[in-house]
Amino acid sequence: MSRPRCDLVVENAAQVLTMERPGLVGPRRGDDLREVGAIENGAVAVHGEEIVWVGPAAELATAVEVDANAVRIDAGGGTVTPGFVDSHTHLIFGGSRHDEFERRLSGQTYLEIAAAGGGIRSSVRHTREASEDELARLGRERLDLLLRHGTTTVECKSGYGLATEHELKQLRALARASDGHPVETVSTFLGAHEFPPEFAENREGYVSLLVEEMIPAVAEAGLAEYADCFCEEGVYTPEQARRVLLAADAAGMRPRLHADEFSPSGAAELAAEIGALSADHLSAISDEGIRALASSDTIGTLLPGTTFSCRIPGADARRLIDAGVAIALATDLNPGSCAIDSMGVIVGLACLHLGLLPSEAFTAATINSAHAIERADRVGSIAPGKQADLLILALPDYRCVPYRFGTNHVRSVVKRGRIVVAPNGRLEAARA
Ligand code: NIG
Ligand code: FE
Repeated sequence: MSRPRCDLVVENAAQVLTMERPGLVGPRRGDDLREVGAIENGAVAVHGEEIVWVGPAAELATAVEVDANAVRIDAGGGTVTPGFVDSHTHLIFGGSRHDEFERRLSGQTYLEIAAAGGGIRSSVRHTREASEDELARLGRERLDLLLRHGTTTVECKSGYGLATEHELKQLRALARASDGHPVETVSTFLGAHEFPPEFAENREGYVSLLVEEMIPAVAEAGLAEYADCFCEEGVYTPEQARRVLLAADAAGMRPRLHADEFSPSGAAELAAEIGALSADHLSAISDEGIRALASSDTIGTLLPGTTFSCRIPGADARRLIDAGVAIALATDLNPGSCAIDSMGVIVGLACLHLGLLPSEAFTAATINSAHAIERADRVGSIAPGKQADLLILALPDYRCVPYRFGTNHVRSVVKRGRIVVAPNGRLEAARA
């Protein structure tokens, strides 16, 4: 058999985390969450946008044919991992809510601030005032930041427009922000994030607007792959969430849910019932909710940055894992409950605040997060045939990411086989 050719190699890695083991398929659960597929003294070979080989560096020369003019990346004794997959963000928004951050520290709760007209509604005011150009510019700046911190694929929700015109504006701004940007984006319609002030006294009227006007308009414009709903006490009831998400599903946007963040409302059970791709937050999930998720294909996405930032107890990750729920990790980057944009920080919080092992946190932040956005066939692990999305970390072992969290250890980033963050920290243009 002829050796595969390669035009980019990553060498001199103390450790390569493949996230793979022969026979391991689908979202990882239970003990399989600890399988990081580490190769000590490893190397990765890439051709075009694809990984062609990964293995011990000593075998590179016999395994692949390296082009004479191949790009050679010296990992400098660092660690090579798949690019992070952030499967839950609210990337596009106007304004900032640092004032509420201080109010929360003075004793008000997230839900009290929301009930007083702040919270999501405050970002809705700022987002409605912002132009599409401005939102696209802000989105692009945020994508640059994410990339520097090692996120190579990100899910982004609308939900700060809450009116057809403004939701479409937000989704178009996302499409423009991501156009030509190395970070791959996946878009979700979250018109059911809150109830807009115009419908404060007529919530059912807004649900009907979502079903009859907004979902068809978003589907028609082809601007969102998924639909989401904030199912929570004081926001959307499970009945309203079911109505919205089934309509979205019928229009071609698969459901996902903000579920059981502050109180157990039956949202996780609903997610399992309607075949949602993911149920996210789960910090207040009930026993029934855990059972429902464990026996479903719905991924439980944990957002430790949010509970940490809201200073409330985090999700009971160990119980979820022991019950057999396939867990993923994401930032929840948004202007209110969590302004963290770094997946490295989230891996740290997953360990220190939720009690995950570093191996479980890495699996949740890469391959399982890729499953949560139906991209696991291309991203989330390092294996021949997969897209070459790689991080070179200036750390001798992946466990140093949570151990030394709070600092950005990303030295360089390869996206689709091309260096997009150079070791000097410069962002390079994406491959055309
Ligand atoms: O996931 N919980 C609802 N949505 C976001 C918060 C959005 C906001 O506060 O602006 C979340 O935490
Ligand atoms: Fe969220």
